[in-house]
Amino acid sequence: MGAGKGYGKTILFGEHFVVYGLPSIVSALGAYTTANVKVVKGNGWTVNDQRPATPGYKEQKYREAMRSIANILNHLKVDIENQRLEISFAGDLIAASGVGASAAQCTSLARALSETFDLNLDDEKINEAAYEGEKAYHGTPSGIDNTASTYGGLIWFVKNMGGGKNTMDLLQSPRKMLIVIANSGMTASTTEVVADVRRLREENPEKIEKIFGDYRKLVEAARKALIRGDIASIGNLMNQNHKLLQQITVSGEINDELVELALENGAIGAKLTGTGRGGLVIGLAENEGIQEKILNAIEKRGYSAWRTTLG
Ligand code: MEV
Repeated sequence: MGAGKGYGKTILFGEHFVVYGLPSIVSALGAYTTANVKVVKGNGWTVNDQRPATPGYKEQKYREAMRSIANILNHLKVDIENQRLEISFAGDLIAASGVGASAAQCTSLARALSETFDLNLDDEKINEAAYEGEKAYHGTPSGIDNTASTYGGLIWFVKNMGGGKNTMDLLQSPRKMLIVIANSGMTASTTEVVADVRRLREENPEKIEKIFGDYRKLVEAARKALIRGDIASIGNLMNQNHKLLQQITVSGEINDELVELALENGAIGAKLTGTGRGGLVIGLAENEGIQEKILNAIEKRGYSAWRTTLG
């Protein structure tokens, strides 16, 4: 028997841009997925997925989830010919697009396998195994989600486009950030949305390079604002980041509606987070009263939402 957990995440700056080696800022969430592995007689493996989830999420992601588990078992060279694994997933992280649910599942499984088979994997090896699992969900993952899921904290992440070690700096902000996470209820395919951005870049290289240049300036300013604890600038930069995400066509009607709703109700900044075209939106609040106001407005509109504190 062995158990493990993996945190959810929220991307504050740079989803999609991160795939092209641009810096991004991600925070782990307090909520996580747990995995348990039991070894029984037989061969192969079974999965009992008890994670709370957005309706339709698990069904839509089922094949990717199975492939991702197979990738991790294969990467860790776990024998499934002479023993049978009963794998179960649970935890308080709601499986939805945008929250790093796939990465949390991969990380928790890698940790549970490490414990079950005394593999003594350190965080770096857990992260590598989770990355192999993520390939089944993302095609070409940047590695940002599994990194946040493995290490936790607030992270400046840059993918190494040469294939070497990625940059991962732990950031510290003097100011806690009060966030509302709104769930569009729509599950997006990360593989498809990432592929669309790639196509757009091939078709309009100059336009996309200009957007990438604007984004680079923005994220560097965001890092400084976070370190200063300058909430007003962070909010403003989140709004600008959302506009750039619209320009690369990854926002959707509901994302824009939820961003507007958060801003109308006092958010200092709001943007989609994660893959987009559904999934989640985050709004930054100045104080708990405004955080509550945003939450209530989103729920009144018929969407689910929850509060969290980052930094
Ligand atoms: C998904 O959470 C984040 C994306 O940037 C994909 C990736 O980084 O692999 C859309």
